Order: sequence, then C-alpha cells, then structure tokens
Amino acid sequence: MNSVLIGAGMALPRKCLKNDELPKELGTSDEWIVQRTGIKQRYIAEEETTSSLATIAARQAINHAGLSPNDIDLIVLATATGDYTFPATAVVVQKELGITNGAAFDVNAVCSGFIYALDIADSYIKLGKSKCALVIGAETFSRIVNWSDRSTCVLFGDGAGAVVLQARNNYGLGIQSCRIYSDGTYTDHLITTGGISTTQTVGYVTMQGREVFKFAVEKFVSAFEELLNYHKMSINDIDLVIPHQANVRIIKKFAEIAKIPEEKILINIDKYANTSAASIPLALNEVKNKFGSIGNTALLSMGSGFTWGYALIRL
Ligand code: UT7
Repeated sequence: MNSVLIGAGMALPRKCLKNDELPKELGTSDEWIVQRTGIKQRYIAEEETTSSLATIAARQAINHAGLSPNDIDLIVLATATGDYTFPATAVVVQKELGITNGAAFDVNAVCSGFIYALDIADSYIKLGKSKCALVIGAETFSRIVNWSDRSTCVLFGDGAGAVVLQARNNYGLGIQSCRIYSDGTYTDHLITTGGISTTQTVGYVTMQGREVFKFAVEKFVSAFEELLNYHKMSINDIDLVIPHQANVRIIKKFAEIAKIPEEKILINIDKYANTSAASIPLALNEVKNKFGSIGNTALLSMGSGFTWGYALIRL
C-alpha cells in the first residue's frame, strides 16, 4: 500500500506586511531583512485563526483531489499555535468540514510539524488504518512573537497548507520514505517564554539565532545524505528539494555543501517568511499543477526541540 499525494491547498491571511511597512521603532530595515534572511514580506492574521486558515487550505486540497470531505478518515494537523489549549485544532477543522467519522488530532513539532504529521498519516495508510488522510500545517506565529524584538518578529508569518494522501495499491507515485528525529538537549535554543503548565501565559518566541542557523544547516545536510543513502540515490536522481523555509542563507549553505543545483530547490521565503509547520505544504501547493510529473521530491525540515526530518515523495 502506498500513500499518494493527490491534492494540495493553501490559505493566507488577508493582511500582507512588507518589510518597509514594519514599525519604525523596531530599528530594522528592508535591506537588513532581505540580505540576512531573504524575506520580503509576511502575512499577518487579524480576524483569521489557525483553524480558519487550515479549513480553507483543507477544502482546497480536497477539491483539488476531486474528493468530498466525507472521503477523509484521518486529519493530522501540525501546529504550535493552535486555536485553543484544547480541543485540538484538527477537531475544529473536522467540524468546519462537516466530517464526523475517523480521527482528528494535532501534532506539535513546531517547524518540523508537517513532516511529523506526514509520517504519522503515511504510517496509518501503510498499516491499513486510513484510506484517505488530510495532512495540514497551519500557524499564526504573529500572535506569539514579541513585536518589540527585531531579531525574531520579522522572521515569521502566518498561513496554512494542506495535502490529501490516498491509499493506493502498487502505484508508482507516493511517499517512498519518511523519517523524524528530535534531540531535547536543545529545548532552550528556540522556545516560548511561557506555557500552560509553567507561567499560565502563552509567552513569546525567543531564539539563539546563530546556533539554530548552524544546527539547521547541519541537519539539512545529514538528513539529505541519509535520504540519498537509504534509497541508494545520488543528487542526479532527485528532481526537486523542498526545505523548510526559515532563512534563504540556511537553504543556500545547505545546497552548497550538499552540491544541489539551485534550480532543483524550491525557495519561497521571500513571499511568506517562516510559516513554521505551514512552510512545506505551502511550497507543495505551489507545484500542485505538476503533481504526477515532478519526480523524486525531497522534503526536509528542522525546528524547535530540536526536531528534524525528511521525506522522499514520488510526486
Ligand atoms: O524555523 C527554524 C527556526 N529559525 C531559524 O532557523 C532561524 C535561524 N537563524 C537565523 O536565521 C539568523 O541567525 C537570524 C536571521 C535570526 C539572525 O541573522 P544573523 O546573521 O545570525 O545575525 P546575528 O544574530 O548575528 O545579529 C547580527 C546583528 C546584531 O547586531 P550587532 O550585535 O552586531 O550590533 C543584531 O542585533 O544584526 C542585528 N539584528 C538586526 N538588525 C536589523 C538582528 N535582527 C535584526 C533586524 N534588523 N531585524
């Protein structure tokens, strides 16, 4: 049994905030942000919530797949910025879609969340426990950044992406492998200042930027090598690489070390900034019209925890 990616969708908040529209008091500039990160703008949720963005992305993905919501028997939603402490945002999306069967739950692996969610859904399909799964990455990080800290608030944006995975027998396309990892030694490197059981506040994002940068490059490189070794492939066998979009310099450094030609790497951080768990499905949505003819696509992520992972999909 194979999990084949048959649909994708996305949603962004209405408000787009360009670098030069950031508050002057922040002491930043379009030049600094573009040079150091590649980010030109980000979308900021106002009336939107994580679930409302996720629901739009999910509907689009289901339509793109040519299915109806009742075909879905599993919803795995990756987020670190859910609507409520409980219930899970996935259940809110399930309700909005009018689905009453199957299971829906959230996964929190922050920027690696989508690959974690994909791995779970793929495993359910391969075990025969799900026939059609919705995998969503959705975030509203603008609500948990400190808007007076220029070293973090300019980096993140809001949005959602969703894909539909369907169980298919002996089919050439689909998820070939998926691996997820974490190392809790680094919990304090990228963390919020509070939480339910500590300060009973939401807290805001703090980050040791340079350390996170180094770790991200290292893990992209080692995860990509592991993927190639596992499949006995070389870079020539890979048609498209979709890394988590945290900083264009991280992506370029990784590409240089791993000797990946630039034309094989999808970069869209200029448009959306770092949307955490939403970044990879937003990128998948951009290539959805070519599903079925793209070839071997490597997904790579790294995030708070630290968490990281990869997937190889024949798309
Ligand atoms: O999704 C996974 C999580 N996130 C990441 O992977 C992000 C990883 N880290 C990074 O992308 C980079 O480390 C940053 C973009 C966060 C920072 O870039 P950097 O080149 O590592 O800069 P830095 O932290 O070494 O700071 C250099 C200077 C500092 O000033 P001084 O001390 O040299 O005077 C900062 O205060 O840049 C200053 N700075 C800024 N200046 C203008 C930091 N943020 C800004 C800003 N605008 N927004």
